Amino acid sequence: MTSGPTMSDDLYERVQTAAGAIRKAASGPAPKVGLILGSGLGGYADKLTGAKAIDYGDIPGFPRSHVVGHKGRLVIGAREGVTCAALQGRVHLYEGHSAATAAFPARVLIALGCKVLIVTNAAGGLDPSWPPGTLMLIRDHIDMLRDHALRGPNDERLGPRFPDMTKAYAPELRALVTRIAVAASITLQEGIYVAMPGPTYETPSEVRMLQTLGAHATGMSTVPEVCVARHMGARVIGISCITNQAAGITGAELSHEEVTETATRVRATFERLLDGILGGLISTGELS
Ligand code: HPA
Repeated sequence: MTSGPTMSDDLYERVQTAAGAIRKAASGPAPKVGLILGSGLGGYADKLTGAKAIDYGDIPGFPRSHVVGHKGRLVIGAREGVTCAALQGRVHLYEGHSAATAAFPARVLIALGCKVLIVTNAAGGLDPSWPPGTLMLIRDHIDMLRDHALRGPNDERLGPRFPDMTKAYAPELRALVTRIAVAASITLQEGIYVAMPGPTYETPSEVRMLQTLGAHATGMSTVPEVCVARHMGARVIGISCITNQAAGITGAELSHEEVTETATRVRATFERLLDGILGGLISTGELS
């Protein structure tokens, strides 16, 4: 062991310790699907039945979120016959956390047994034709964060040094989600999510740059969690709620209130989509 704190020399143990504490607090079947609920989207965790909620403060090693609209609780319960572990709120790099810390809760969900991770976020729309309230299935991402969740020593017990990202957002699960949206008459766009460091929203010039790069939605989260999920071999579904048009597209100024208001407005549709996805994961045998 090298001296001094390094980023991940005891990461495996810290993940196991957190998972052990959660198993002790919430006895019952192991969760199969992990849900990361973004700004204004946390209400879905309240719909889980037979649920046990654990404050992040009671889970060893879990970082605390201070952003309004993020509760900071893990809820384990069932929905559509699937035992889920839902993170109600996440921490962001702009709060001063490393990407590895921001992604730590996602690692713990996977250590608990989640085979599929559904990551959601609020994001700014880069396609001018998408009105606020549009839901977007993430096809791929662009990482513009200045830290990486896997930076530092690699522990092979968690995953490989150089994870492949060719199919970061599982194509077969994207096809499933698309079919479910069509069957439920939910309009679902598909596109590229770009992660920006924040906490300032983008400048109009940065928005033009991101459009040129081929991105469709910009946000300040998600990528660290997706990277650790791929590292650990879990499959990922990503859904962005386009809460606003990105800076400069309409000329209107952006606010966090607008972000949470839009997310709240589409809540019912978003929850219907999540219900459909959980049901679809079961009926297609994706979780067995
Ligand atoms: N930019 C970055 N992050 C966001 C936005 C945005 O416009 N809206 C919600 N999260």
